[in-house]
Amino acid sequence: METRIIDGKETAKRIRIELKKEVAGLMEGGLPQPKLSVILVGEDPASQTYVRNKIKACAKVGIESESILMDADVTEEKLLDEIRRLNEDPSVNGILVQLPLPKHISVDKVIQTIDPIKDVDGFHVENVGSLTVGDGRGYIPCTPGGVIELLKRYEIPIDGKQCVVVGRSNLVGKPASLLLLAENGTVTICHSHTKNLTEICQSADILVVAIGRAHFLNGSQIKEGAAVIDVGINRTDDGLVGDVDTESCMGKAAYITPVPGGVGPMTIAMLMKNCVHAYKRQHHLL
Ligand code: GUN
Repeated sequence: METRIIDGKETAKRIRIELKKEVAGLMEGGLPQPKLSVILVGEDPASQTYVRNKIKACAKVGIESESILMDADVTEEKLLDEIRRLNEDPSVNGILVQLPLPKHISVDKVIQTIDPIKDVDGFHVENVGSLTVGDGRGYIPCTPGGVIELLKRYEIPIDGKQCVVVGRSNLVGKPASLLLLAENGTVTICHSHTKNLTEICQSADILVVAIGRAHFLNGSQIKEGAAVIDVGINRTDDGLVGDVDTESCMGKAAYITPVPGGVGPMTIAMLMKNCVHAYKRQHHLL
């Protein structure tokens, strides 16, 4: 079987072009420019790169952006005050606090302080609740949103298919499972306590792997003709690698996302989509 590579980089670019047109259309009506505020605490190099890429994507789409840098030893209260200030600022449509945060700061408190209508990460319990009940009112977290967008744009059917999600994090595994369920997939979630992991993965028509371990799965553990969506980004001596050993899946999977260039670029494209969505909600255009 010929394996088709899912090109996340190209798909993300297309989404940015679509959003750029949409934003330009909104501006023609005399409305202010959408704006995203990103808070970065500390100097973690990976987080700095992610934030830089988010700011760059905003420029490409026509969204105004600012990065607010705070020292690693900033107090929790000072960070929460900054979030409250952004909540009150009508020129700011989206607020994102880059994770991870230093240990003395409660991630939960930080996320729950963001006004849900500005929570473009979709991490606030109100948005998680919307996703869970499927009322369509919340923001979909960017990485799992990117997974579903890739499946849809490559016309990979989800309805009635066996979907296996490896990983149960709040950021990816859980929301990815809910989104696949909303598309009428039959969803199984695997995690560190799962006994017959290989057998379950071999049953998957769609296999989403978000476990955060380099080359955790290989081609012998997948079904012939599966769509393999690799969410992992692991830094190793061999450079960036996914949670799946891509090479060993070639000729067996029907579709596979490469690392890098698969799900990664989609995360930021979906963030841009959420920013435009947030802007439209705040300007009562939805
Ligand atoms: N760190 C890694 N991924 C993410 C993400 O999607 N959002 C935020 N805020 N931080 C992250």
